[in-house]
Amino acid sequence: MYSSRRPGKAAKHEGTAYGSAMSSESSSAASVSVQPLTERPAWKALKQHYQTIRNLHLRQLFADDPQRGERLTVEAADIYLDYSKNRITDETIRLLIQLAEECNLRKRIDAMFSGDRINSTEQRSVLHTALRTPKSKQVVVDGIDIVPEVHAVLDRMAAFTNQLCSGRWQGYTGKRIRNIINIGIGGSDLGPVMAYEALRDYSLRDMSFRFVSNVDGTDFKEATRDISPEETLFIVCSKTFTTTETLANAHTARKWLLDTLNDTRAVRRHFVAVSTNAEAVSSFGIDLANMFGFWDWVGGRYSIDSAIGLSTMIAIGPENFRTMLAGFHAMDQHFHTAPFDKNLPVLLGLLAIWNNNFLDCQTIAVLPYDQYLNRFPAYLQQLTMESNGKQVTLDGVRVNYQTSPIIWGEPGTNGQHSFYQLIHQGTRPIPCDFIGFCQTLSPLGNHHDLLMANLFAQTEALAFGKTKEEVKAEGIPDWLCPHRSFEGNHPTNTILAKRLTPYTLGTLIALYEHSVFTQGAIWNIDSFDQWGVELGKALAQRIIQELESTSELPLTHDSSTNTLIRRYTQLRKA
Ligand code: F6P
Repeated sequence: MYSSRRPGKAAKHEGTAYGSAMSSESSSAASVSVQPLTERPAWKALKQHYQTIRNLHLRQLFADDPQRGERLTVEAADIYLDYSKNRITDETIRLLIQLAEECNLRKRIDAMFSGDRINSTEQRSVLHTALRTPKSKQVVVDGIDIVPEVHAVLDRMAAFTNQLCSGRWQGYTGKRIRNIINIGIGGSDLGPVMAYEALRDYSLRDMSFRFVSNVDGTDFKEATRDISPEETLFIVCSKTFTTTETLANAHTARKWLLDTLNDTRAVRRHFVAVSTNAEAVSSFGIDLANMFGFWDWVGGRYSIDSAIGLSTMIAIGPENFRTMLAGFHAMDQHFHTAPFDKNLPVLLGLLAIWNNNFLDCQTIAVLPYDQYLNRFPAYLQQLTMESNGKQVTLDGVRVNYQTSPIIWGEPGTNGQHSFYQLIHQGTRPIPCDFIGFCQTLSPLGNHHDLLMANLFAQTEALAFGKTKEEVKAEGIPDWLCPHRSFEGNHPTNTILAKRLTPYTLGTLIALYEHSVFTQGAIWNIDSFDQWGVELGKALAQRIIQELESTSELPLTHDSSTNTLIRRYTQLRKA
């Protein structure tokens, strides 16, 4: 029922279903751009342009153009982006947009929205945008409108949520479900946990929501130590339903439940699944009536707005969930139609390219000034680094430029008292995205003004710094001036919205999804596969057999791995 309409049907694993052969259709979609990136006129012009502006300081740029902070901003879908504190001129933006055009970004965007198999190494369409398309619209792929299917699943999720929250869905012993535990990993965990945390203020407070992802037993043990199986529902989220960590945790959960309830019929009241793999769900023992499906054209890291968001829907209710989808859709439409110089995700993506490939910055710090977004940097790590951490182009040629930046971050103001020192005075340039809201969800005295004052102050300090002369003028002795001065000229973006709502969260996630897309299109890579996770998985499969073998197996790894395994097995006995 949930298998794909595309050739190859749902994969056994996201990255294992297809060989490398490309159909002519996929290879033509993949090879939109043939000229090597570094030979494109705009790339070369940007390299030259960098030489002319490399010594320009943001102090100068702002002094020369008093309107800069108003001009270099863009607003759409309730999100305001101030990119004026980047080391750019109007010419930089012009050339970056020229680069986007030379790389056929417009064509690539259209190809994604219209369901072309732009994930060429897996021969899949990339249609997470269809997940948030309103009922009234159509997304026709291969002659079939997929929107009704999407809404049918959303309706089933809503019906289930209503049953659960009204108490009509009960545990096996007739008790009300009070605890929801999402079991999943990667996109089947990071999206749900991030969205739950972000929208906690909108959530049911008489239910607990927990997330088990790590195969480390501690995760499961701590999530279940103070709750009753009779009142607990597990949502097993796995696109493939073959992921080792998720299946290990799901089996442990099953045992934990049955140790108390002693009847396998209890499983159907305490387990639901979200997957594309009905066969594996059924063989685990979950009733297919309690499975919520999605499609192989939804990548794991792009799946929070599919049934993978079931825990979010239960927490915030179907109406808020649909509002979140409306936020996603608003940003999708903006991305699809706005001219590049007014296009938030395109500009954010192009600025990331500028900072990465021309200013040689290796990382981006994502700094949400909102405690509810505490998992947002972790979510963006997978979104960005699993998507764009690639070293070959769509044609399999080794790139001669950097691809994905390293994404990291923590909510403000906590980060200010740990790693901001390095951002201000370290030797590495670190562009930062600051995210803040004008209205707080936690009005307590002047906390919110304090929080936002810090956000604004940080972007100001990073841009303008404090010269030795300014420090000296404050009476600081000469020897201390170098330690107390700040070079400034650190690039930052500030993303401001009125309030953190389900709608805004949707727009914010879609903003970053499409920024990642923009970067991948410029680099001419496949942003939607993840072959890089496969080797470690395969080696772990081999080692687990060695660790679990009752007789001592001859180890044939390298001398380091062999010694580590021997040491582990000896000490494990003790
Ligand atoms: O190993 C990486 C990955 O495939 C991610 O892309 C994905 O989000 C995660 O594993 C979980 O996969 P699944 O939902 O199939 O369990």
